[in-house]
Amino acid sequence: LASIEVDLSPIQQGQAVTVMWRGKPVFIRNRTPEEIETAEADKLDDLPDRSARNELLPEATPATDANRVKEGHANWLVLVGICTHLGCIPKGQAMGDAKGEFGGWFCPCHGSHYDTSGRIRKGPAPRNLDVPPYEFVSDTKIKIG
Ligand code: FES
Repeated sequence: LASIEVDLSPIQQGQAVTVMWRGKPVFIRNRTPEEIETAEADKLDDLPDRSARNELLPEATPATDANRVKEGHANWLVLVGICTHLGCIPKGQAMGDAKGEFGGWFCPCHGSHYDTSGRIRKGPAPRNLDVPPYEFVSDTKIKIG
């Protein structure tokens, strides 16, 4: 399928789901206010990869949290769930998973830590997790692709 629609209404704050899109896992997390605050407070200077890696924005777009989410929907983070090092699927989706030192996702294959915006912060992965092309078709539904 070229594009899929996902109903976000069952996903509670602090929860995450994984859907498949074009054969790839896509992570959708309903972030808590604390997770959003942390992601917004991070300084670009502290980021190994300064590109937003948002497929709908030019590559030079800075990796602020705002550039990785949709305006007015900052709680929803949508990411391609493939580690940018060698392609493992990072942990952090399931309740009780290790989320790494920056509270987002942790790739156990070689130890990459992603923050609550899905940006690489520590470890061998060279790039932030990609934000796939998606849009809100209603307040509680997104279309990916
Ligand atoms: Fe994720 Fe190597 S594949 S750290």
